[in-house]
Amino acid sequence: MNLFDVYPLYNVTPVKAKGCYVWDENNTKYLDLYGGHGVISIGHTHPYYIDKLKDQLDKIGFYSNFIKIPLQAEYAKKLGQLSNCENYNLFLCNSGAEANENALKLASFKTNKKRVISFNNSFHGRTSAAVAATDNPNINAPINQQQAVTFLPLNNINLVKEELIKGDVCAVIIEGIQGVGGLDEGTTDFFKDLEKICKENKVFLILDEIQSGYCRSGKFFAFQHHNIQPDIITIAKGMANGFPMGGVLISKNIEAKYGMLGTTFGGNHLACAAALAVLEVIENEELIENVKEVSSCFINRIEEIPQVKKVKGKGLMLGLEFDYEVAEIRKKLIFEKHIFTGGASNKKLLRILPPLCVTKGQIDEFVNALKEIL
Ligand SMILES: Cc1ncc(COP(=O)(O)O)c(C=O)c1O
Repeated sequence: MNLFDVYPLYNVTPVKAKGCYVWDENNTKYLDLYGGHGVISIGHTHPYYIDKLKDQLDKIGFYSNFIKIPLQAEYAKKLGQLSNCENYNLFLCNSGAEANENALKLASFKTNKKRVISFNNSFHGRTSAAVAATDNPNINAPINQQQAVTFLPLNNINLVKEELIKGDVCAVIIEGIQGVGGLDEGTTDFFKDLEKICKENKVFLILDEIQSGYCRSGKFFAFQHHNIQPDIITIAKGMANGFPMGGVLISKNIEAKYGMLGTTFGGNHLACAAALAVLEVIENEELIENVKEVSSCFINRIEEIPQVKKVKGKGLMLGLEFDYEVAEIRKKLIFEKHIFTGGASNKKLLRILPPLCVTKGQIDEFVNALKEIL
């Protein structure tokens, strides 16, 4: 059997990893400034994380959600404390798309409406409602096109208002900072107005923090830069440092009902052990402080590079925008300088999503390499 060929692959085969580095089968060392797609939060093969996972595997790895799993409540408590979101309840699932799917479903159940407002260049995943709310017709199959979604430009509150007053909208879904689309984001005024008009029109505001959350922006959630309180927050990626996991934080005034949401694998013992270990490392190693410090140093150093026309994003979710396409630069970074970076739908943007423990020295390594290539 062959693999279904849906990914254009770089010819690199990582076989081991540690912190911010990965090694291929020839023992060539690469600096990972892409964190395996924004997933590696506390660094590859972190010893504390490994111990916790091994320990959990020796005890019990999985049982169904119809028995008690105290690790889920332990994780929810810790997440509430660290993220300052104690007034939310948590539903656990397996991926970002599934988190958004459940968030949208919840909004539709509760409002009994079905139209969704999403934004140009958004990416929310590949399942039914999530892909329909994603601004990319190429990945939206005919079966998904039955969903009613209206795409609007970011930062035009009047256009959102015009749609909400029509009375058929269940949710507005927006990324804290756009990831795949290219690091664009709402202004504080826009987020605040969005929160206000969603409340006025009894529409759920869903913040997709799957990429921008988990301390990546320099705050636990990117929306916290704007001082708002969404109705629902979705998380995945950095949550379990590579163990597949997603979550939906649901405002306490949204009531649960047995059977409303469900999953076989979501919130299993191993996933919770991984997610707890991640939060403990984030706290003990003060990674949020590291994000802020390394980010400002990064942004200062990038000013030395005149070819970079704009730095987008926040914290360690950054995009370097050139006035030409960056595919060639990315290739040279990998094959000549042995540094992984990311691309975006915006082909002129180099995306940087390193593990949150990346050091200033590693950023210097990248800046020097980029200068040499340019
Ligand atoms: C903002 C955002 N939402 C949702 C998703 C989908 O997550 P997953 O691939 O885990 O389904 C992604 C993945 O890149 C994302 O960046």
